[in-house]
Formats: sequence, C-alpha cells, structure tokens
Amino acid sequence: MPTTQTLRDLDKKYLWHPFTHMQQWLADDPLVIIAGDGMELIDSDGQRYLDGVSSLWCNVHGHRVAEIDQAIRDQLDKIAHSTMLGLASQPAIELAARLMSIVPNNLSRIFYSDAGATAAEIAFKLAVQYWHNRGRGEKNQFIGLTEAYHGDTTGSMSVGRTTAFHRPYFPLLFQVHFAPTPFVYRFNGDGSAADAQQVRDACLNQMRQILQQHHQNIAAVCVEPIVQGAAGMIIQPTGYLAGVRALCDEYDVLLICDEVATGFGRTGRMFACEHEQVQPDLMCVAKGITGGYLPLAATFATDEIFQTFLGQPEEGRTFYHGHTYTGNPLACAAALASLDLFAKHDLVNQVQHKASILTKMLQEISPLQPVGEIRQKGLMVGIELVADRAAKKPFDPRQRVGAQVCTAIRRHGVIIRPLGDTLVLMPPLAMPIDDLQRIVDAVKLEISRL
Ligand SMILES: Cc1ncc(COP(=O)(O)O)c(C=O)c1O
Repeated sequence: MPTTQTLRDLDKKYLWHPFTHMQQWLADDPLVIIAGDGMELIDSDGQRYLDGVSSLWCNVHGHRVAEIDQAIRDQLDKIAHSTMLGLASQPAIELAARLMSIVPNNLSRIFYSDAGATAAEIAFKLAVQYWHNRGRGEKNQFIGLTEAYHGDTTGSMSVGRTTAFHRPYFPLLFQVHFAPTPFVYRFNGDGSAADAQQVRDACLNQMRQILQQHHQNIAAVCVEPIVQGAAGMIIQPTGYLAGVRALCDEYDVLLICDEVATGFGRTGRMFACEHEQVQPDLMCVAKGITGGYLPLAATFATDEIFQTFLGQPEEGRTFYHGHTYTGNPLACAAALASLDLFAKHDLVNQVQHKASILTKMLQEISPLQPVGEIRQKGLMVGIELVADRAAKKPFDPRQRVGAQVCTAIRRHGVIIRPLGDTLVLMPPLAMPIDDLQRIVDAVKLEISRL
C-alpha cells in the first residue's frame, strides 16, 4: 500500500477534482479515502469518519453492505456490462418492473442513464420531442426556478443556472424563463420575516404570469420538488408544488420533477412529490437509486408521452438518445438489492422516525448566534450561518465560514460539506441515532466556536 504522502503527491500531480478550487486543493493535505465500513469512511492513515454527506447525497444503507456487495458479485459472475442498444438485459428489466411499483402510478416508462444531469437532460429532450411529435414544435422552451440545480451538462445548466458555477457558459445555454424560488427566509430583501403562504402565492403568481404570456411556447416546467438541495436546502412552502402542478394543467405544459436529490426516501417519502400527491409527467432520479453504490439514473415518463414516440421509422418520432453504459447490469443489480433493503427495514418510515428525532437534536443548535435558519425535510438538513442573525446578514464569502467549520468538524471524525455558508447534513438513511447525535454534537461545538 502506497503511503499517504505518495497518494497525495500523485493526486496533486494528476487529478482535477469536481467543484474544487484547485489552487486551494494543491495547498492542502486532502484526506485519501481507502475504505468504507457501515456509516464510516476510512482514510489512508486508518482514521475513521462518519459519512455525514452520504458520499454526496447518494449513500442510503451505509458502505460495504453485505446484501448489495453480494448482489454485485453475483451479477459479476454473469456479466458486468452489455448494451441496451438493440439488446435487452435481465437486471434492467427486473429493476424497471420493481421501480414501477414505487413511482407515482401515472408513470409507466423508464429511460435509463448514468447521472442526475443526464436524467434531467433526457427529460428536457423528451419534453421537447413530445410536443414536436404532437405537431406542436413551437412548444420548445422551459420554465425553471431561480436557484435551481439540475446538474452540469449544457441543458441541465440552462434550466438550473447558478451564476457562481455557470457564468462562463452562459453564452452556450438555451433561453429559459425563470420563476422565483419560494425561499421564505430570504424572500424579503430587507431581511424582515415573510409569511410562507404569501411567499408561495406570490411565486405561483409570477409563474402564472410567465405562463400566461408564453404558454404557447413552453414545453415544460421543471422543479426540484419540495426541497431545492444545491440552493441550500430551500424548503418550499406547503402547497407550492401542488400549485405548480395545477398551473401546468391549466396552461397545458408538462411538469418535470427532478427527484435526483430528494428521491429514494430522503425526505421521508419514497419520492418528494408524494408529500403533495403530485404526479409529474416526467421524473428524474439518480443518486440513491443504487443505494449510492454505482452510477445509475432514470427518467420516468407517462404512457401519454411514450405513445407519441411510436410510429414508422420514417415518421421521425424515435428518441435518438443513449449512453454506452445505459442500464448497466451491475448498477441495476445493486439497485435491486437496495430496494430489497428498503422493504426489509421499512426504511422510508424509519426516515420519518429518525427525522423527528433529528429535529429535536437540531433544536440544541438553533439558539446559537451564527445560526440564521435551520431547514430540514426528512434527512436533508441545511444550517445557514450568518454574521448577523437579526439582520440575516451573510458572512463575507471570502471568510469561507462554511468551509472552515466543516474542516474543523473533521477533527471530531465527521465529514460534512457546506453549500456556501449553509452546512449540509445528509446522512445515509440507515444511520443510527447515536451517529446522528455525534454529527450534531460536532456541528454544535464548532458553530459555537465561531
Ligand atoms: C436536484 C439535482 N439534480 C441533478 C443533480 C446532478 O446529479 P449528478 O451529479 O449525478 O449529475 C443534482 C446533484 O446534486 C441534484 O441535486
């Protein structure tokens, strides 16, 4: 086994890390993870850390879970990969059938891919081609939410545009109409408290105005349902998602729900849109689908959408889209094993139970001076740190307060990641209460040191 120093040196020499200020990275001594064990990550010096960010929001049952490991090994004994272009594949078929029993029941077709961004990209293309196939090719624009995030491919960046991340590519992105995110805490620019229902109605009203003006050209509205994760765990006011669904119906546009972060139990329902009994026309999933083991994503569509893609080849209705590893058998086998564990441990109900305990734990943190707001839905938590609590004044971004706190928390054997100055707690859904408490204790201690 190479030494930690050798691994670090090679990393710094050759690697380019995602979403990483590389100059800073080169100056730091990164942890090198070599193993996982249950809820913990183990580094090259043998130190153990609780995985408080679920290895970027995807781990569900922990690491090295015997049942998922075995399912992958069993699949490996059969085949690691075969293409879905022109051939069918057993694990992809079985997984599709299983998923159909848990997704909203108006969805009846699944298109596989391998990342959240591709799942979103596929939804956008399906939406546009759906209208094209219906002879309504002019309906080719989208409504997205300000602050939304759908991934880093060009289409995903277009609909989920984050200035800080995507500014250099703005010239490449297609035109999107943006409706405001119903962010209650920061809705009033002067920092005064806003009423959640008023924020909801005001935001829905602005979306209505866009639809009134442009519905003839709008293919779909795309939202992250209930929680906008990357924006800082912004939780939509009750009734907002159902309101968006109603607007889509009224103005004859499709609704795309991006459940990449919220799907697979994270918010206390298998899919977040269930909180408001909303049935999307297209739904994107990724991250938790394999229990956080292997790259797999899916875009679900209604039968109505699917039917418009049927016809003779020369009619041009075919969906010409695919990726080499679409429906990878190892990933599908992991996903099937993960779904077995969801059922075996009644995991979605477990999330609701743990979430209510976590809420109580977080009450110990909320009185701390630098805590502006704690936002929680299920096991998705954002703790927004501010310089001045009364005025909701943010810290100077150059101070990198969120990053500093997360670095300090590592000394307690806990790994979490910030979104700006919002600390994110996203534990694996199976994390025991004691481990959740350890994370909260570390967070509390380091915030109180600010
Ligand atoms: C809502 C949402 N959509 C899409 C993505 C992109 O997923 P991926 O990183 O797998 O491309 C993310 C990632 O965080 C996300 O939160």
